[in-house]
Amino acid sequence: MNILLLGSGGREHALAWQLAQSQAVRSGGKLFAAPGNPGIAQDAECVKLDVTNHDAVVAFCHLQAIGLVVVGPEAPLVDGLGDSLRAAGVPVFGPSKEAAQLEGSKGFTKDLCARANIPTAGYERVSSEAHAMAALERFGAPVVIKADGLAAGKGVTVAMKMDEAVAAVQDIFAGRFGSAGAEAVIEEFMTGEEASFFALTDGTSIMAFASAQDHKRVGEGDTGPNTGGMGAYSPAPVLTPELEAEVMERIIAPTVSTLAAEGTPYCGVLFAGLMLTANGPSLIEYNARFGDPETQVMMRRLQSDLAELLLACATGELASAKPPVFSKDTALTVVLAAQNYPETPKKGGTIEGIDKAEATGAKVFHAGTALDGDTLTINGGRVLNVTATGANVTEAQKAAYAAVDAITAPDLFCRRDIGWREVAREAEG
Ligand code: AMP
Ligand code: GLY
Repeated sequence: MNILLLGSGGREHALAWQLAQSQAVRSGGKLFAAPGNPGIAQDAECVKLDVTNHDAVVAFCHLQAIGLVVVGPEAPLVDGLGDSLRAAGVPVFGPSKEAAQLEGSKGFTKDLCARANIPTAGYERVSSEAHAMAALERFGAPVVIKADGLAAGKGVTVAMKMDEAVAAVQDIFAGRFGSAGAEAVIEEFMTGEEASFFALTDGTSIMAFASAQDHKRVGEGDTGPNTGGMGAYSPAPVLTPELEAEVMERIIAPTVSTLAAEGTPYCGVLFAGLMLTANGPSLIEYNARFGDPETQVMMRRLQSDLAELLLACATGELASAKPPVFSKDTALTVVLAAQNYPETPKKGGTIEGIDKAEATGAKVFHAGTALDGDTLTINGGRVLNVTATGANVTEAQKAAYAAVDAITAPDLFCRRDIGWREVAREAEG
């Protein structure tokens, strides 16, 4: 079977690496990626496709007899590419435009949680500055303010004091996030440890996938500005089997059944951002796609056939699919980022030594790289994801940094403490 993967980051390299190992591709199928990157090019044929031109994507799928489209990032999903492909009879892993609102609109998700009695922070949707200010008065600080739409991860303010909350509201309604900020959500502040949980669904059946924890802040000790993620590990031991069962029962199952009952079935991966509160797991947010860099660590552990699982979701046959099998080992990934990330990453510096890093047993996924002749160069904010495994987080961390140290790239930096929470817990025994 031929497969088309959309996207160009480290998440997509990890997906491509697994898809290339699937039976569908090994038995003569072809894996295409659009646009891909130099790492993905080792596993797939990279092609140019304008994903905002749905007719062009559909035409490519027909021409190349594509049996499965895997959509990496959220933007094409929120834009309805899934609907266009399904309407043309092309199986696609990824939700419809309506269902992708789980990521595309914070208010949509909060209302769904309210209807389905899913544990989440108390909230109010607001559509004007005056309305927002009145809500802030009622909530008091600390409080959380979220632009409703996609805001490239920058639309959330956790305000410890009222003046920060007021500034965040003014920012949103002054148009800082464009149409993403025409509406906002004011939310109760929750405390606890954060963890991510991934589940697959074909719209009716659900299947637990895996857990992970990432590090969103750019600086060591989880300090400095937010990023897409500077590193991650999987599994997340804080999500015990009991807590995972609770998440499936109280959060994932009612989400899928409510969306289906309301005529907007969700097909794809549900990426639940969770707060492990004193009262149990509570939903912070949903993403309608795999996480980046969480996918890199989950794919490193996956021992099942990824294409088979994703196709079962796309064709409504998840009920008869075998649950995924993962290595018992922990995988940990360290993001190597360009100088000045996340503000204005500096492009162009050279990268050497990936082969040496991989000789240690690690896998290096490409995120923001380019080829200049034969020279690999920096072409993005997050550039490489150095991913290694070990018997626990401490061991996986050691292996990952040994591989990082084999890479020569003076214009890249990384955090040296990925996994610190778990490493500290493991040292305590
Ligand atoms: P989100 O984009 O909704 O995942 O929010 C980004 C980050 O803001 C989360 O990873 C949390 O660290 C924090 N956050 C979001 N909502 C809340 C909340 N209700 N209480 C405390 N922290 C929150
Ligand atoms: N690493 C967080 C995300 O993919 O949204």
